[in-house]
Parts: sequence; structure tokens; C-alpha cells
Amino acid sequence: MGTIRHCVVPAAGLGTRFLPATKVLPKEMLPVVDRPVIEWAIEEAMAAGALEMVLVIATGKELIQAHFERQPELEKVLEARGKKAELAAVRHSQDMAHIRYVLQEKPLGLGHAVLCAADVVGDNPFLCMLPDDLSHAEPPVLAQLRKAWDGVQSTVLALMRVSGDEISRYGCATVSESRGRLHRITGVVEKPKPEEAQSDLAIMGRYVLSPGIFDALRRTPAGEGGEIQLTDGIATLLGAGEEVWGLEFEGELLDVGTLDGWLTTNVRLAHELGRAPALRGALG
Ligand code: G1P
Repeated sequence: MGTIRHCVVPAAGLGTRFLPATKVLPKEMLPVVDRPVIEWAIEEAMAAGALEMVLVIATGKELIQAHFERQPELEKVLEARGKKAELAAVRHSQDMAHIRYVLQEKPLGLGHAVLCAADVVGDNPFLCMLPDDLSHAEPPVLAQLRKAWDGVQSTVLALMRVSGDEISRYGCATVSESRGRLHRITGVVEKPKPEEAQSDLAIMGRYVLSPGIFDALRRTPAGEGGEIQLTDGIATLLGAGEEVWGLEFEGELLDVGTLDGWLTTNVRLAHELGRAPALRGALG
């Protein structure tokens, strides 16, 4: 097993929660304050030490790729008009990371999307994040997971305690021994019914995965929603005797994967970053 180089970001989903806004616009291109969701995700991956991004996209999501390519005509106009800050922002998005694109040809689930990155990642552990949430933590959530990986040298998932029926929206983890906020995971179930949930520990969309996950996913049948679930792949990994750990991260993940969450996160971050002074008056 090699060292961590890659961060895999599944970005092939249809974005049905945002229709009609996402009829042609990939949901990862929706802005949060001044930049698209996908840029926030890449910043977090870079802060966790990723050297190469692997974006798993689907046909129709080419705008994501275009965003990270040079746009010489735009640069020319900005240069001629002396718009230095705008030019720097445009150049930043094309220089911020080394990005590879992998096509998920059919929407067969999150686990399948991760499996699509197998050839690029090879026999190395890797970071994985779902861009439906933004890290609001210092250090960022993925960097906290990476540090935990350095200690245990095996798969680490982000965990968060949730209340009541909320667990049925998430993967759910059962744990045994704990080292502070780091727990040894004994079982995982994707979106259990509230009455069947074995714990209140939800698996959030941040992972450091051992390369064993690829074989595990190949052996994992379709589960919830007829899709190959990443959570089920992790269950297969556990069944094969690999250690899996869960970190109750510090700080918050801010939802940008639902309309309500996206709106709230925009208002909150714009306010915190001082980017919308008028909000102060409007919100009281
Ligand atoms: C996915 C995962 C689930 C995880 C969740 C975190 O579900 O399948 O295990 O708890 O992300 O947001 P989704 O939200 O894509 O349905």
C-alpha cells in the first residue's frame, strides 16, 4: 500500500433537489458566496494534503471541467480593464489543483462512483469527499481525518451525532473501543429505519479509504435504492477483516446539498466573511 495522493470527489449526481436551477447547471457549480461549491471542496482537499483531485462526473456536467480550464478571452478582457482581483480569482480556479476527470457512465450509486476512480488511484489510500457539505472547521474536517489516518493507518470515516429520526438520512455506524473522539467501527448500515438504527452516529461525507475498498465495492451488490452504496462497500471491508475507524470531527459541516441548507449556508458565510453588509440590517 502506497501513500495518500488523491482526493476523489463524486460529482455525477443529477441534483434533483435543486430543479429547475440544475436543469443544465451542475449542482456543484451553484455559488456559495462568490465561488462554486466545487471550489470550496477542492480547497478543503488541498488543505488535507491532496496532490491530485479525481472528479467523478457524468455526461452533462462538462461545465465543471470548463470552470477549471483557461478562459483566455475572459482573461484578456479583465486584463484590458485592469480588473486585477477578478483576474486573480479566474486564474486561481485554473491553477488551484491538478485535476483528473473520470466518467461515471451510469448512475449506479455512490459506491459505483468511487469505484470509477480505481484505475487512477491504484493501490494507494485516498481521500474522498462529498461536496454536499462544506467544512466549517479549523483544521478543516478532511485534514482532521487525514491526521487520524496517520495514527491508525486504516480507513477513517467522519462521524457526527444526530438526534431522533435524522439517522435514517445517513449511513449509521456502530462502534466499540474509543480513543477520545476516534472510535473503532464494528458495523455500518446505510440509511436505517429510525427504529432499527443501532446508534446515533451518522457517517458524514468525508472519508480516508484504504485501497481495499475497490475490491470490496466490486463484491458489493446493489443495496438501498438499487444503487451500489459506499456504506455497503465499507461493510464488506469490515467483513474482510480490515480495521475501520470513525472520527467525531470538531467544528461543523454546512449543508449545501439541499435548497434550505444552501440558502442558509450562503447567508451565514456571506455574513461571516463580510461579503454582504446589507444582510446585517436585513437580518437584524
Ligand atoms: C451519502 C451516503 C451516506 C452519508 C451521506 C452524508 O448519502 O450514502 O452514507 O451518510 O451521504 O451526507 P446521500 O446524502 O448522498 O443520500
